[in-house]
Amino acid sequence: MHVRLLSLLLTLTFATLVCGLFADEAFVVDWHVASIGSIDPSRAILSPDSVAVFSDSSVLASLDPGNGTVRWRYFLRESAVPRPSLLLKLDSSAILLAAATPADAAITHIAAWIEDSGYLIWEAYLTGGAPVGVSVAGDVYILQSGGKVRRVSHLTGSEVWEYSLPEGHSPVDIVASKGKVLIITRKQDSGLGYFTVNAESGEMASDRFVVVDKNAAAVSFSKSEGYGADILSWTAPGETSTIMVANLSDTTPSVHTITPKHLYASFSLASTSTGVVVAFTGLDGKSWAESYSSSRGKLTLVGSTDPTESASAVGAGKLFEISKGSISSFTLDSVDVNAEGTTEVSFPSSPIEFVTCSSSACLVGYQNGEYVFSSTTGVTWTRDESVTNVVSAIFMELEEEGQTASLGEVLFEENAAPLQAYIHRVKRHWNALAGLPQYLISFFHRFLSGDYDAVPIDPNSTVSDTFGFRKFIVLATTQGGLRALDTAHAGALAWKVDDVLQSDTIVGIVRSDAKDRLFVVGAFGSVAYVNGVTGKIIALSKIAQFGLGDKVESVITFTDDGVQYVAAWTAHAQLHFLSGSTPSKPVYFSKATESAIVGFIYKEDRLIHTWKFTLPTSSYRITSVASRDPDDTTVSVGRVLGDRSVLYKYLNPHILAVAAVDDATKSAALFLIDDVTGRLLYSSFHDDEVVDTAAGVKVVVGEHWVVYSYWSELATRGEKLVVLDLYESDIRNVRWSEGQNFSSFADTPLPFVQGRGYLFPEHITSLAVSRSRFGITNRDIIATLDTAQVALLRKRLLDARRPINREPTNDEKEEGLVKYDALIGNDKRFIVSHVYKVIGTEKTVCSPAHLESTVLVFSYGLDLFFTRITPSQPFDLLSKSFNKGQLLLTIFALLVAVRFTGPMVRRKQLNMRWGTQK
Ligand SMILES: *[C@@H]1O[C@H](CO)[C@@H](O)[C@H](O)[C@H]1NC(C)=O
Ligand SMILES: *[C@@H]1O[C@H](CO)[C@@H](O)[C@H](O)[C@H]1NC(C)=O
Ligand SMILES: *[C@@H]1O[C@H](CO)[C@@H](O)[C@H](O)[C@H]1NC(C)=O
Ligand SMILES: *[C@@H]1O[C@H](CO)[C@@H](O)[C@H](O)[C@H]1NC(C)=O
Repeated sequence: MHVRLLSLLLTLTFATLVCGLFADEAFVVDWHVASIGSIDPSRAILSPDSVAVFSDSSVLASLDPGNGTVRWRYFLRESAVPRPSLLLKLDSSAILLAAATPADAAITHIAAWIEDSGYLIWEAYLTGGAPVGVSVAGDVYILQSGGKVRRVSHLTGSEVWEYSLPEGHSPVDIVASKGKVLIITRKQDSGLGYFTVNAESGEMASDRFVVVDKNAAAVSFSKSEGYGADILSWTAPGETSTIMVANLSDTTPSVHTITPKHLYASFSLASTSTGVVVAFTGLDGKSWAESYSSSRGKLTLVGSTDPTESASAVGAGKLFEISKGSISSFTLDSVDVNAEGTTEVSFPSSPIEFVTCSSSACLVGYQNGEYVFSSTTGVTWTRDESVTNVVSAIFMELEEEGQTASLGEVLFEENAAPLQAYIHRVKRHWNALAGLPQYLISFFHRFLSGDYDAVPIDPNSTVSDTFGFRKFIVLATTQGGLRALDTAHAGALAWKVDDVLQSDTIVGIVRSDAKDRLFVVGAFGSVAYVNGVTGKIIALSKIAQFGLGDKVESVITFTDDGVQYVAAWTAHAQLHFLSGSTPSKPVYFSKATESAIVGFIYKEDRLIHTWKFTLPTSSYRITSVASRDPDDTTVSVGRVLGDRSVLYKYLNPHILAVAAVDDATKSAALFLIDDVTGRLLYSSFHDDEVVDTAAGVKVVVGEHWVVYSYWSELATRGEKLVVLDLYESDIRNVRWSEGQNFSSFADTPLPFVQGRGYLFPEHITSLAVSRSRFGITNRDIIATLDTAQVALLRKRLLDARRPINREPTNDEKEEGLVKYDALIGNDKRFIVSHVYKVIGTEKTVCSPAHLESTVLVFSYGLDLFFTRITPSQPFDLLSKSFNKGQLLLTIFALLVAVRFTGPMVRRKQLNMRWGTQK
C-alpha cells in the first residue's frame, strides 16, 4: 500500500515537472471510464455475491452485484479469445475460463481465478484444439475440438489423464458426474450419442457408442447441469414444433420428446428439482414457459405461462419474465408455475437482446448496448457498454454563458427604431446590474482561491466555462446510438439517443456548418441532422438517388469559400452531397484501397477519376493513411536556427502519408504523396526489419512533419518511431513559396526531408497530434500504449536535427536541440494517464480549449480517457498555488509608499529648482 502510494506520488510529482499536469489536477481535470465490453449471456455467471463475465472484448471481469462497478478485470487480448470460450464456476469461490488463444486456435488457455480478489490460482495451455465443452465435478474435464479429452486438477491445473476420441467422431460436449465422464459426439453415419469414460482412470468404461438421436445433424444442442440431473436438449434442423431431451443422470439414459404448445423460434431449458422448465420464444416473438415433471421415466407437462411480449429466462429454480415496464417472477413447484409477483420497473426502451438469471436476479442485455441488473424488487444497476464500440467521436463546442441571450438582444437593438433601441438598451444594462453583486462575489472568490474550476457549472446546463475546458464529446456507437459525455463532469452522460438512423448502422458523424449541428450518416443512406448540444434530432432523411445495393463507406467534408460541404462516399464510387448545395469550385479528394490510392476531382456536378498511386510491389498492403488536420493553423512559416538563419517549412496542405507493410518479407514502407495531383513527394522503405505487420504502421502528419511508428523485432526489439521533417529547401533562408499560396499544380520543387529514427520500448497502438487554438503552442504527439497507458511524446525530442555522437554546439543549443539518443524512454513523466489503467484504447481525438496553451485530449477504444495537456507549459494560466493575496498586498503597499513618498519627492524637486539644496 505504501509502495503504491509512494509510486503514485512520484508519478504525480514527475508529471508536474514535465508535462505541466499539476499534482492537484490529477483526478480533477482528467477522468477515466473503465469498461468491460459487450456481454454475452453464455459467458456470464450470476451469483448472489458477484457477477463474472468474459466479454466480447476479451475482458474477464467481476462486477459488484450491488452497484455494477468493476471489482477487478483483466484484459486477456494476448492470451484468450472470446469465441470459442467457456466461463464457469470452479467452486463456490473460484471461476474457470477456458478459451482458445489468439496466436493459435489449436491451443486452449485454461485458468482459474478467485472470484472476490481476481487472484490467479493456476493456468495451463493445452494442445489438442479449442475448448468445446468443460464440465466441473471436483476436477475439471475438458473436451477439445481436436478430439482430446483431459482431466485437469482443480487445485493445480496439472493434467491427470488424457483420452482421445475414436476416429470419425466430432466432439459436441462433455458431462462429468458420479465417477463417469460422458463425452457427447456426433458420428456421420450413426448420429448424436455419447461415450462413457471412467473419471478415475480416463479409460473407456464401455466401448459402446450410445446413440440418442439418429439424426447427426441435430442443432441448438444445449446442456443443463446441476439440480440432480444432467439434461441434454436439442432439435433437428428446421424443427419448430418439438424438442428432444435426454436425461443423462438416469441409469439408462432416456430420451424424451417435448411438444410445446406453440411453434418456437428458440428455447432455453433448465433442470429443476423435479423435472425441467423450458422458456420459449415463439415465431411471433412472444415468449412463454412450460414446466415438466419427471416421473417414472416420463416427462409430463404440469404448468405453463401465457405467451406475452416479455422476455423470459429461468434462473436456479425460478422463472423470470421481463417486459419494458416490469419484472415478474414465478416459482416452479411440482404442480405448476406460480406467479410470485410483478414489480413495476422502468427498464430501457431499447429491445431486449437477452435475459439471464440467477435464483434472485437477472442480467438483461439491450440492443443499445446497455445492461441492466435487476432483482424482483427493481433495477439494482445499469451499465452502458455501448461506449466501448465507438465508430467515431467528435468534440462539441458549448456556448459561453449568456452569449446566446445577449446576441438576440443586440440583434434586436440593431434592427429596432433608435429610440426604442435606446430604451431597450438602458433596460438591458439596468437588468444586468442586478447580477453585479453576485458577479463581484464570485469574481473575488475565484480571484482569491485561484481555482478556475471553483465556480461550479451546473451539470444540467449546456454552457461552457470561461476557458473552454467544458465541451461535450459525442460518440457514435456501433449499436446505432449517440452518447454525449460532459468533459467537465468526469464524462457524465449529457444526453443519449438510441437508434438514431432507425436501424441503419452509423458510418460517420461530422460537424455541419452550424457549429452545434451534426450530420449522422448511415451505411444505407440515412442521414440525421442532430443538435449536438441537446441531442435533439432536427431532421431525418434518406440520400436522394441512393443506388440500389450501394453502401456509404465514409463521410468527406470540403471547404470552399469558407462554406463547408459534407458528402457521403459510397462503395459504388458515388459522391452524395448532404447539405443540398454542391461546391461551385472543383474539389479534390482521394480514397485508399488495399493496394492503391485513387484521386478524384468533383467539378460541375461530375466526379472525375484523376490519378492512381499504386504501391511498388503487389505484396504491399496499405495499413494507414494520414493527412494534416484541416483546422490546424501555422503561425510561423520557418524554423529559426541558432545562427538566426531560417529553414522554411514545407507547408503543403495536401500532403498524404501512406503507410504500407509487406506480410511476406515483414517490411514496412512510407510514401508521402500530394493528394491533389498524386505526385510522389517522398518514400522510405524499411526492408531490413522484422516488422509486426499485423500491428501495422501508425502515422500522423503535423505541421510540416510526419511521424510514424511500427513494431520491429530486429536487433533491439521495440517500437521504431521515425520522424520526417519537411523543409522547402536544404539551403537556409531560401523560400520559393514566398508571396504565393501553396498550389499543388505549380511545378514546385520536392521537399527537403530530414529523417531520424527513435526507439520506444512499448507497443504503441495509436498516434495523434495535439492542436491548439491558434497554433502557437507546440504540437505534441499522443500515443496510446498497450501497457494500458496514454503517453505524451514531445515533438521537441522527436526532432530530426538532433546532433549525433556529439554535444550540441552553442547555436544548436540555442535552437533547443539536445544530443541524439535513440531511446525515447517510456518515462513516467510522459505518461499523462498516470495511475489509470486505460486498456484497449485505439484512437485519440484532440480539441483546443479557449486558452492557447491547453489542448483537450480524449482517447477511446475499450476504455475512455480524457485529460488536458499543455505542450508548451500553461503559460497563459496562473497556477493555483500562485499567491494572489500577496500580489494584492504588494500593490497596496506600493500605493501607500507612493502616497507617502510623493510629497517628499515633490518637495525635494521644488527645493532643487529654487537651488536650496539641503
Ligand atoms: C460499490 O459497492 C462496493 C461494495 O459495496 C463499494 O466498495 C464501492 O465503493 C461501490 N462503488 C461505488 C461507485 O459506489
Ligand atoms: C433424470 O434422472 C434422475 C435419476 O434417475 C432423476 O432423479 C431425475 O428426476 C431425472 N430428471 C428428469 C428431468 O428426467
Ligand atoms: C439536474 O437534473 C436532474 C434531473 O432533472 C436533477 O435531479 C438534478 O438535481 C439536477 N442537478 C442540478 C445541479 O440542478
Ligand atoms: C492567399 O490566400 C489568401 C486566403 O485565401 C488570400 O487572401 C491571399 O490573397 C492569397 N495570396 C496570394 C498571393 O494569392
